[in-house]
Order: sequence, then structure tokens, then C-alpha cells
Amino acid sequence: MIIIMNITHHMPEFNAMTTPKTLITGASAGIGATYAERFAQRGHDLVLVARDQAKLDALAARLRSETDVSIEILRADLTDAADLAQVEAKLREDAAITTLVNNAGASVAGAFTAQRPEDISRLIALNVTAVTRLGHAVAPRFAASGGGTIINIASVVGLVPEFSMSVYGATKAFVLFLSQGLQVELAPLGVRVQAVLPGATGTELWDKAGSDPAKLPPMMTVAALVDAALAGLDAGEAITIPPLSEAGLWDSYQSARHAMLPGFGNTVPAARYRA
Ligand SMILES: NC(=O)c1ccc[n+]([C@@H]2O[C@H](COP(=O)([O-])OP(=O)(O)OC[C@H]3O[C@@H](n4cnc5c(N)ncnc54)[C@H](OP(=O)(O)O)[C@@H]3O)[C@@H](O)[C@H]2O)c1
Repeated sequence: MIIIMNITHHMPEFNAMTTPKTLITGASAGIGATYAERFAQRGHDLVLVARDQAKLDALAARLRSETDVSIEILRADLTDAADLAQVEAKLREDAAITTLVNNAGASVAGAFTAQRPEDISRLIALNVTAVTRLGHAVAPRFAASGGGTIINIASVVGLVPEFSMSVYGATKAFVLFLSQGLQVELAPLGVRVQAVLPGATGTELWDKAGSDPAKLPPMMTVAALVDAALAGLDAGEAITIPPLSEAGLWDSYQSARHAMLPGFGNTVPAARYRA
């Protein structure tokens, strides 16, 4: 378990009398669909966001038959400005929403030099811009209420430039940094922010990104990944890395970074840069 911050206001639900509602992006498949199932099992009403209406309808129908929760579908392409604005408005205006799962994301296979500029732009729009804008839409309401939870799905790839998944990894490093920054800004206001860093997980993402099936790594199951991420959430973790066995390694990594901080205020260049 990796607890890097003491969350004093553990208030996933604002008011015990009202049913909590969770908005999940990328809920039509993979990790997002499993989050939807798990939050429904926890008694949360749901707002499911993705592009594929038929898949969202099928998931909603199944969860309605298996649980008592109410489920709304908000079909949106989060790379489309008007659709994104619609989801932002929902997060601003629906006071019943107490949790945002910023999960929708994609990857693009191949070397940086072979990737198409339009694919890179779409990836950044989805993995970076939408995640930031949705968090920004909901945070003021959460802060004003002194509660609420934002779960951002990053990736271990954001810590590993050596994987040569440079643009995808950079978007996930952004999500990690954003989450850490928002933890600093929002935790004192009672808002929880959790970053989840999955390793390779068995979803459609790899196929959609055009990965070579012969070169795929071993995968964690989606169910195991989401259950571990929720165990991390329940434990009050700010950063959850389900495949990392030795939690202390993350703490050492943070300590190494913290050790550099005092030096960042130096007003003269380091000796090695002086003529
Ligand atoms: N699988 C892994 O190995 C892995 C590892 C680390 C992190 N992650 C992260 O986990 C998250 C979920 O990925 P996954 O593995 O579950 O992938 P997935 O099975 O491909 O699911 C991606 C979800 O995002 C939605 N989505 C894609 N483009 C969208 C768009 N433009 N607008 C709205 N929704 C969109 C998809 O729905 P529609 O197609 O219906 O829109 C789908 O519901 C991503 O952020 C991913 O980067 C995955």
C-alpha cells in the first residue's frame, strides 16, 4: 500500500442520506466498464460516458437488472469540443455526482517518427485535455461541498520513457503530475484525488492502438486491476500502482525527488556550469 498523503477528509459521499452518483468516462469497455459494475455493486447511481451508444445501453441494461441503481447514459466523444462541454456541464450542474472516474483513454502504437500528427493530436485531446477539463469542471463544486472524489487513470508507462511509447507515456506522466498537484491543492478542501497506474491490462486498448499481437506483454485481468485500484481507494491512497509489489520503492522515488527541492531555489548556477 502506498499512502503518500494523509487524507483527513475521507468523504466519498457528501451526505449519507442521498445516493452517491459516479460519472465514469470510457465506461463502454475495459477498465471503465468494470468500474461501472463495481460502483453499481457499491450502490452508486451512475453516469456512463463514451461514444458507443449500443455498448453503453447493453451495460446499463445489465447493471439495472443486477442492481437497484439508476443509470444515465451521456454519449460523448471527449475529443469533440461540444461533446466535452456537455460532460463538463453535467459535472458542474448535477450536485448528486460525488465521484468522477477520469478513465477514457487511448494509445497509439508505433515509433514517434511513424505516428500521424492527427493521431497524436487526438491522443492528447483525449488523454490530457479531456481529463484536465473534466477535473476542472467538477473541482469547484466538490471543494465548495468539502467532499468528492476524483479518480484519474494514468499508467506505469508514464514512469518509463524506456518503453518507447513516448507520446502515450507523456500523456500519462501528465495525468500523474496533475493528480499529485491536485492532491496538494484539493486535499485541504476535503476533495480526494487518486491516481491509478495500471500496468499492462487485458483490454481492447492494445488492439485499437494497432499493437502487434505477437509482441504483447503478459497482462493483468481487468477485474484484478479494478479491484486492486478500489482497495487502494478504500485505503485512502493517493497513488495506487496495482502491479508494484514493493510499495516502499515508490516512497524512495518520491524521497529522491523531494531531496532535490531545496536546490531548485538556488539563484546561482551549479558549480559544474560555471566557466
Ligand atoms: N489496458 C492497459 O494495458 C492500460 C494500462 C495502463 C493504463 N490504461 C488506461 O486505462 C484507461 C482505460 O483503458 P482500457 O484499457 O480500458 O481501454 P479500452 O478497453 O479501449 O476502453 C477505452 C474506453 O475509452 C472510451 N473512449 C475512447 N475514445 C474515446 C473518446 N474519444 N471519447 C469518449 N470515450 C472514449 C472507449 O469507449 P468508446 O469507444 O465507446 O468511445 C472505452 O470505453 C485508459 O486511460 C488507458 O490509457 C490501460
